[in-house]
Amino acid sequence: VSRQFQVTVPCSTSNLGAGFDCVGLALNRYITATMEPGGDQLHVVRKGTLVELPDAGDDIVARLLRSRNIYGKLTIDSTIPIGKGLGSSAAAAVAGLALAALVNDKNFDVDVALDAATALEGHPDNAAPSIVGGLVAVITDGMRHRSIRLKLSDKIGFVFAAPHSSVSTKAARNALPSQVLHSDATRTIARSVALIEGLADGDPELLRIGFSDDLHVPYRIGMIPGGGHALSAALEAGAWAATISGSGSGLIAACERGSEEHIVAAMASAFESATAHPALALVMQPDFEGVRTEKSA
Ligand code: HSE
Repeated sequence: VSRQFQVTVPCSTSNLGAGFDCVGLALNRYITATMEPGGDQLHVVRKGTLVELPDAGDDIVARLLRSRNIYGKLTIDSTIPIGKGLGSSAAAAVAGLALAALVNDKNFDVDVALDAATALEGHPDNAAPSIVGGLVAVITDGMRHRSIRLKLSDKIGFVFAAPHSSVSTKAARNALPSQVLHSDATRTIARSVALIEGLADGDPELLRIGFSDDLHVPYRIGMIPGGGHALSAALEAGAWAATISGSGSGLIAACERGSEEHIVAAMASAFESATAHPALALVMQPDFEGVRTEKSA
């Protein structure tokens, strides 16, 4: 048996309402990339949700390994829904960087990896939680990105529901205005404080305020078929707060632990009656580990 190197990286939900472009939470769906080095070509096998992607030649993990002259057999398997707002491409970028470091026996430095993943993929608010796990804020300081681990109460349950269709991050970013009102910006700063405190304490009222947003949600919710209905359904079913996960098409809701199944079923059923297509319904657990690596001789 040849040497084998493996990395596993969690997905993430980002924004959480008022934490637009700077708050992310790692969740328990994963991409796993396994490499058996050898030869002078890279053979790529994609499994799980990655099978639905069109071009294996353009795979982000494969591109990264080729750019580092790493060849052999690469198997990438993912349970992360694609194009649904769970940071699947940021997780893939992190997996590629971690795998390259592991194969080359290099140290995987968290700060260097965050800058590199952002350069590759563009979304540090997804890359940071995928790297370190847990709830993270990202601050862009000049050219560098810094991640700050934040406290997360274990009183909060998280559910994710998505319609059949996906939203491209590019389209969701193009939907944003180039300027916002000063009053909207200042309200968002206060809400983001409520968000951080609400997540730390599991405070339903602060979470409701913190999950509300004027900077991106109003411009994007219309791109999600049944999105408005599913948000209302979450709150009617007893969720403390609900908003778009990343740039969609999925929604993330925070609720009392134990009520997850009921809430996610209500959200999925709202999507299904609005779209006449099956919806995705996932009860999620935070992932506090981030990247894990394994090698066998
Ligand atoms: N914060 C980014 C956005 C995440 O909402 O556009 C994209 O995955």
